[in-house]
Amino acid sequence: METAEIRKRYLDFFKERGHAIIPSAPLVPENDPTTLFTGSGMQPLVPYLLGQSHPEGKRLVNSQKSFRAEDIDDVGDNRHTTFFEMLGNWSFGDYFKQEQLRWFFEFLIDKEKGAGLDPARLYVTVFAGDPETGIDRDEESTDIWKKLFTEKNIDGGNPKYIELGSEKEGGDKGMQGGRIFSYDVKKNWWSRAGVPSKMPVGEPGGPDSEVFYDFGEFAADGSPRHDPKFGAHCHPNCDCGRFLEIGNSVFMEYKKREDGNFEKLAQRNVDFGGGLERITMAANNDPDIFEVNHREIIDQLEFLSRKKYDGENKYTFRIVADHMKAAVFLITDGVRPSKSEQGYFVRRLIRRAVRYADKLDIGKKGFSAIVDPIAIMYKGSYPEIEQQKEEIQNIISGEEERFRETLVRGLNIIRNYYAHGFFSHGSIDSTTNTGGTENRINGDTLFNLYTTHGFPVELSLEEFDELKKKNPDDPLLQYDREGIIKEFRRKLVSHQETSRAGIEQKFKGGLADTSEKTIKLHTAHHLLLKALQIVLGPQVKQRGSNITSERLRLDFSYDGKMTDEQKKEVEHIVNAKIAENLPVIRSEMPREEAEKLGAEHEFGQKYPERVSVYSVGPKSAILTKPQFDKAFSIEFCGGPHVAHTGEIGNFKLVKEEAVAAGIRRIRGVIE
Ligand code: SER
Repeated sequence: METAEIRKRYLDFFKERGHAIIPSAPLVPENDPTTLFTGSGMQPLVPYLLGQSHPEGKRLVNSQKSFRAEDIDDVGDNRHTTFFEMLGNWSFGDYFKQEQLRWFFEFLIDKEKGAGLDPARLYVTVFAGDPETGIDRDEESTDIWKKLFTEKNIDGGNPKYIELGSEKEGGDKGMQGGRIFSYDVKKNWWSRAGVPSKMPVGEPGGPDSEVFYDFGEFAADGSPRHDPKFGAHCHPNCDCGRFLEIGNSVFMEYKKREDGNFEKLAQRNVDFGGGLERITMAANNDPDIFEVNHREIIDQLEFLSRKKYDGENKYTFRIVADHMKAAVFLITDGVRPSKSEQGYFVRRLIRRAVRYADKLDIGKKGFSAIVDPIAIMYKGSYPEIEQQKEEIQNIISGEEERFRETLVRGLNIIRNYYAHGFFSHGSIDSTTNTGGTENRINGDTLFNLYTTHGFPVELSLEEFDELKKKNPDDPLLQYDREGIIKEFRRKLVSHQETSRAGIEQKFKGGLADTSEKTIKLHTAHHLLLKALQIVLGPQVKQRGSNITSERLRLDFSYDGKMTDEQKKEVEHIVNAKIAENLPVIRSEMPREEAEKLGAEHEFGQKYPERVSVYSVGPKSAILTKPQFDKAFSIEFCGGPHVAHTGEIGNFKLVKEEAVAAGIRRIRGVIE
């Protein structure tokens, strides 16, 4: 069974149960300063989990494109990928545990309308309770699962519940003939920030229940799947690969309070997330995600390289296949390779894919041809890839070319160090250039080549080895290979920790106490777009946006640089509209109607059948009578916004610059 078929069946299954199908949000979240990428289906829906009403109702279903940059180093085994689709169904204060667990179970085992899995291969986990927050063990879910497995006569109609707790306890105690297992907050609690203690104030979360598919104790060749390096015994949450998590039902009913305790949200929600690709693996009983979900890319790579996807080669094929798929989806959603933020990850994906594709020897022209099978695979569900294929290929080839230049430059730098007899600080300093052992290659050399010059470590090492082969006795080249790699890793980790601390800070800033400022900037953002259209012309369109509590950032299409006068005028218009204290009104309507009103929307974005629209002004507009024909601005938007523009304060433009051909970026703050 193919991924596309599972996706369709899932959407239909929940549609039949009263859910509205909504399109996938883009991989780059809108107006969400807390994260660079959409990494789960719930992220774009947080406002609705917190109580805002969704224009499509209380039951939604979708397949959300997701990218998890943090998984990049795990890619290479048979189940990790950076890009995946998360199937999601939601109840915003509507149904709860009874319906959710039964429906998902039915979907998984239904042969005609679901994934057709053998229920005997399914194992489930529930929340064991948490003494710290005082939230109890999830007895209700345990009872529901017991009933569901009993109905199917699994384990002779007597499915066993086993209390495990931590992952370590799981490894110590093993399966014990169980079907339903309980784990602690680390495994069976879900929030965007992880365990309860890490959650910022106001963040929603709750206990969850996961379903695992059992590929069997033994692999096809008869060898045991469990590897004791993951623990003495296997259990559902063991990392050996026997069990694969295929879905997670989060019962999101709590919110963190100022005092660190938890209170119930105004409504009980269900946030379900299931790995589309993983369910497809289970449906095919094939533990290799690349065989099931990247086969067309692998075929293309086999063709280009004249090598087979087997043995040692598998690792290399997988990295190229994963990274190229992720890069293609990110580029399609508007990300361009660059030095910072989202662009950095696209750059890293492409460059890493080039390195590994080179190992496969696919030839110079081959690289961007990897886009072809991806466009074909997703023609039905994401036709925009096919539509933008040429541009995507140009971007990828451009980045490949820049990377190849970097490689040449890196090699020259190494040769230059050597010629000057100085390696140790990764820079050439002619005054201390003595060529002795104290100047030999060390961890700094690797670190500097990597961070400053973007030169891959493996290549540095290869070049050092080459030099040494030619000059075995040179004191400059008497380095300890393992030692310098260790030293390099140590430096890299401390470098990454510094930047991660920055990211965590950002996470706090966006969610915790400052949301009011973010909301003000959000409304200012609408005023700004309109002001830009007034001053620069109606052809100006939004091409990206990002708002934090400190500033707003708007990318828009415009050829040329703004003059100082134009900037002043834009600022003046925004402030005049703030001074008028115009009402900001939210309306819901069919998408077509919003389009007819000329409501602004971001280029390339997909919207559901019913949308929410925010209009600003006129002064006489009231909640029930928005007077769109006289409004100052109308935009497709999920909010939130201030009620009146007067709440915003004084607006100031701080920077205007180019980000890409024909795209300008502008930043603004509130004083
Ligand atoms: N939010 C949960 C997850 O990402 C379920 O959607 O796993």
